[in-house]
Amino acid sequence: MAVYSRNVFSLSIIVVLFFLIMLSFTEAREHLVGGKNDSWKIPSSESDSLNHWAEKRRFLVGDSLVWKYDGKTDSVLEVSKRDYVTCNTTSPIKVHNDGNTKIVLKHSGAYYFISGAKGHCEQGQKLIVVTLSDKNMRFMGAPAPSPAEIDGPAVAPTSNAATLKASLVVAFGVLIGFWL
Ligand SMILES: *[C@@H]1O[C@H](CO)[C@@H](O)[C@H](O)[C@H]1NC(C)=O
Ligand SMILES: *[C@@H]1O[C@H](CO)[C@@H](O)[C@H](O)[C@H]1NC(C)=O
Repeated sequence: MAVYSRNVFSLSIIVVLFFLIMLSFTEAREHLVGGKNDSWKIPSSESDSLNHWAEKRRFLVGDSLVWKYDGKTDSVLEVSKRDYVTCNTTSPIKVHNDGNTKIVLKHSGAYYFISGAKGHCEQGQKLIVVTLSDKNMRFMGAPAPSPAEIDGPAVAPTSNAATLKASLVVAFGVLIGFWL
């Protein structure tokens, strides 16, 4: 009897852990652009570029992007693909210059951002964020569409945390299978 209840107890812990992990897949995340507070600036090199940073991440609908910068000297312009490519700052979709900009990714597909500071976009202060709609993408470990396809050199997709998490879920599934 004691053994039986211990097993039931362990099983419930595993089930709870399982659902906690599931939850961590689907919760909307906030991405600090560039990973640092002062990342919205002219990159010092290709490997320092924001698109390089974005390639290693996975953006899902509902996630948000956060920019930290000096609103007196710089801004974040959301632009069309054409204006992104040509660094045309004259007719942005949206202008943000509050120094602490948060944008919720509401639709899947590509978002294009360039700096509003004169000459900065031309020197590489620009960002493409490809947003995925399917939450299940987190499980599949499918490679994210790469901004490099649109702009800049190709970079091999890096293995990501999602793959690891997916393996964890499978491991838990197998464990529970054994228990039952
Ligand atoms: C960015 O700055 C805020 C305060 O302005 C601080 O709380 C946060 O830890 C900083 N983040 C990084 C990644 O440096
Ligand atoms: C920038 O965009 C505006 C509006 O679409 C257009 O009138 C202008 O010619 C463009 N400038 C350049 C340099 O392409």
